[in-house]
Amino acid sequence: MDNLYTQHSAVTRGQREELLEQKGKVLWFTGLSGSGKSTLADALNNKLYKEGRLTYILDGDNIRQGLNKDLSFSNSDRTENIRRISEVAKLMADSGVIVLTAFISPFVEDRKNAREIIGTENFIEVFVNTPLEVCEGRDVKGLYKKARKGEIPSFTGITSPYEEPINPEIEVKTQDKTIDDSTNLIFGHLKKLIDK
Ligand code: ADX
Repeated sequence: MDNLYTQHSAVTRGQREELLEQKGKVLWFTGLSGSGKSTLADALNNKLYKEGRLTYILDGDNIRQGLNKDLSFSNSDRTENIRRISEVAKLMADSGVIVLTAFISPFVEDRKNAREIIGTENFIEVFVNTPLEVCEGRDVKGLYKKARKGEIPSFTGITSPYEEPINPEIEVKTQDKTIDDSTNLIFGHLKKLIDK
């Protein structure tokens, strides 16, 4: 980082937030594959849009086909995946956007690092707490079946760990709730945080 100088812009974050009438935030969804992260992020995104909020989803399956297509599912590549997304989400929140990220983000340390990069005042950790049996039962993408057959190495929950959040801002137990119930629960928490 030698020979680099931070450039400051004359327009501030506060001014952008004023313009958008909201505060930039990052809603960090974490949970197993098939837990409902993307579904809930999408439903919440829809609800926020209808309320006149500017939001954007960063989703693991999509980002891994573009920005992060050079990364595997080794522990160190997962760490790098989360680090890059944290930096992107930080910039987007600074622009005033409400960012919804949907990544397994299985490691406590990586999520802690994401919180540090983004700033704890802008970071809302949402633990989509769906038991492995339920995710595997759903198996929407058929990946658990493949993982059990040994066709996917280091699959989260089967051959690679998932470390549960210790103290998330929001926890949703999806197995006894409808998508609407879960979305409303998150929305309720969020509303208090984003109003300008
Ligand atoms: S993370 O662990 O690095 O945060 P990320 O959210 O980007 O994962 O990607 C997870 C998605 O990639 C899963 O929803 C699934 O569709 C797909 N996937 C492919 N291989 C694996 C694997 N070995 N473990 C987990 N998910 C995988």
